[in-house]
Amino acid sequence: MTDLPQFPSPTWFVGCGNMGQAMISGWRSAGIDLSNAVVIRPSGTAVEGVRTVASFADAGPQPKLVILAVKPQKLTEVTAQLRPWLTSKAVIVSLLAGVELTTLRKHYPKAAAIVRAMPNLGVSIRRGVIALASDDADDALRVQLSTLLAPLGYAPWMIDEARFAAVGAVAGAGPAYVARFVAALTKAGEKRGLSNEIASTIALETALGTAWMAATTGEDMDSVARRVASPNGTTEAGLAVLDRDHALDALLASAIDAASLRGGELAEEARSASLATDAQLS
Ligand SMILES: NC(=O)c1ccc[n+]([C@@H]2O[C@H](COP(=O)([O-])OP(=O)(O)OC[C@H]3O[C@@H](n4cnc5c(N)ncnc54)[C@H](OP(=O)(O)O)[C@@H]3O)[C@@H](O)[C@H]2O)c1
Repeated sequence: MTDLPQFPSPTWFVGCGNMGQAMISGWRSAGIDLSNAVVIRPSGTAVEGVRTVASFADAGPQPKLVILAVKPQKLTEVTAQLRPWLTSKAVIVSLLAGVELTTLRKHYPKAAAIVRAMPNLGVSIRRGVIALASDDADDALRVQLSTLLAPLGYAPWMIDEARFAAVGAVAGAGPAYVARFVAALTKAGEKRGLSNEIASTIALETALGTAWMAATTGEDMDSVARRVASPNGTTEAGLAVLDRDHALDALLASAIDAASLRGGELAEEARSASLATDAQLS
């Protein structure tokens, strides 16, 4: 198939744990050719469908595209190992939560462009959300990356890092919050006498069916809720509890506030680490 997106040759995945593998699973199930790509991870543990090596020296020709998928705390260590292999043609796409463009630019001063991407785990089944931000990617690179990421889900470019962080706070962490909601629905079913197997299955299928219905029809969530709740009926009685004092809205807003606060702390830690290691890297 000629219309499938192609990875720049060569593309290096630096680190490939939970998120790197989720993205690769999504691309593989979309039928994308990964023969131009190589995974570099210290364990050398094979990643299905992609050549995997344990050291940069074994990765082959210098990369055109680098997808950084290590933990934020590893940035300085990995940069010291990676920089000798980079030319000024390399584009860096960083998945690192909380590490800002200015910090990345200090680590990779010669990179052709630097892009932040914040995916969520839905990429593995091609229903992910991937926020994108850059202050130096040109239109051609934006189109190229959008095309490459489209098979993994919804990948909007955000106009600044504040909005990028907002998408990350909602969508990056979102699967964890949805998981908690489904678990709470399960516990409520068990409390009413259902077995765990039945309660967890109906909670999951209800979440999936509701999301799928809204995603395919475009119906908004207020309308979905209204269609379920007849006046003075059972659902309306339940919604009155969830809606009282905007309890659910307030709970989620404070969860996302806490995540954003932690994001700010991680960014600060990355900035400080970057200052401390400037001399070491230059
Ligand atoms: N998980 C999520 O839902 C999620 C969501 C959004 C963004 N992110 C971001 O994605 C990044 C990766 O997260 P993760 O959950 O995938 O972490 P992870 O599962 O811990 O994977 C980290 C990877 O880094 C590799 N690594 C460690 N040191 C390295 C080195 N010196 N050179 C090359 N690779 C090295 C590890 O290699 P080995 O496997 O060989 O040990 C591992 O493959 C993080 O920055 C995170 O902020 C994650």
